[in-house]
Amino acid sequence: MVKPLHAALDVTLPDGRHYPIYIANDLLKTSGPLIAELQGQRRVIIITDQNVAERCLPALQASLSHAEIPFHTLTLMPGEGSKSFAVLEETLTQLLSLAPDRQTMLIALGGGVVGDLTGFAASILLRGVPFVQIPTTLLSQVDSAVGGKTGINTAHGKNLIGSFHQPQAVIIDTQSLATLPPRELRAGFAEIVKAAAIADADFFSWLEENLDGFLTKQPAILAEMITRSLRIKADIVMRDEREGGIRALLNLGHTFGHALEAECQYDGRLIHGEAVALGTILAFDYAATLGLCRADDAQRVRRLFQHVSLPTQCSQIAAFNAAKLVQHMQHDKKPNQGEITLILPRSIGQCEIHPHISADSLQRFWEDALTSKAAH
Ligand SMILES: NC(=O)c1ccc[n+]([C@@H]2O[C@H](COP(=O)([O-])OP(=O)(O)OC[C@H]3O[C@@H](n4cnc5c(N)ncnc54)[C@H](O)[C@@H]3O)[C@@H](O)[C@H]2O)c1
Ligand SMILES: [Zn+2]
Repeated sequence: MVKPLHAALDVTLPDGRHYPIYIANDLLKTSGPLIAELQGQRRVIIITDQNVAERCLPALQASLSHAEIPFHTLTLMPGEGSKSFAVLEETLTQLLSLAPDRQTMLIALGGGVVGDLTGFAASILLRGVPFVQIPTTLLSQVDSAVGGKTGINTAHGKNLIGSFHQPQAVIIDTQSLATLPPRELRAGFAEIVKAAAIADADFFSWLEENLDGFLTKQPAILAEMITRSLRIKADIVMRDEREGGIRALLNLGHTFGHALEAECQYDGRLIHGEAVALGTILAFDYAATLGLCRADDAQRVRRLFQHVSLPTQCSQIAAFNAAKLVQHMQHDKKPNQGEITLILPRSIGQCEIHPHISADSLQRFWEDALTSKAAH
């Protein structure tokens, strides 16, 4: 029997707003009462995608019906393409045709794509309506559903249009991971390792010891893994909701990873979590070359990813060009007069923000990294 972890965490923001995160196995079946606690028996509007509609929607709908909460459902096409102006417009138009009011709650049932689009729509519909996150991928459960960043992509890049809009609650059912494709499960694991590497050395060791439980999707292991990972994210978000300072730590591995993702043009060769795995290894290797952290730590990170069959060498993905990768890094979120800000580790569980990394130094590092077979 897995112990239900009701309200496993509570996220309290600097201004006092707060919301619960529920984590348990089979929680979708009892999500109706949790939603009724938030808003009584008002009508809600579920937004999901076609894959999730087949797998997770019936349990949510049954629970809402049982709790006597009326609902409508909008179903998007799966995939990153739905985080677009066109789909946002279509979604808002459909929402308006349902005559919502300022209290109408949206429910995002799906991965990060559904969560980001729904959250953004909720933040601008009638100047803001409440929403609940029910994340169904491991990546969205440990990362995107918590923290309040919402948004869409444009031709200029990913997530450049969006808002901060915190959910009223996050409901995480580990059972929904049963149908998740293995590649997506591994991608979520990369973000978990990233979180441990940022702030919790004990959790990193726990991950090394509990890989089998993860790979066989033991509910108790999944619940503990998600809870510990989210605690790290929530602790940081609670201190810095809008990324004025330490929230940037959550970008460990992301500036390297985004460069690789951009070079692959989001064509499916490298999904985000895989890019984060490579990026985290590269951040540790780069820190080791600067003498900031020990090469042994970089090896531990690499081994953990190898054990779950995440990519650990850039050459597994494509033949990359160092100069182009550096260009992408310069265009990553926060350009700073040619210098690049990186999150670099001192050790596993301790990272810091380095705002003045030169493009030249990175160019040399990539050239070595891309040609050294042993390391990459
Ligand atoms: N807002 C944030 O803070 C934040 C943080 C990290 C990532 N993101 C965003 O999240 C997005 C990626 O999210 P993702 O990795 O969850 O991808 P996703 O939402 O595209 O889901 C991946 C695939 O899994 C399918 N799927 C979802 N749940 C399933 C289930 N239970 N069973 C079977 N299939 C299922 C989806 O239909 C999709 O095909 C990106 O757009 C990224 O920018 C946002
Ligand atoms: Zn990420």
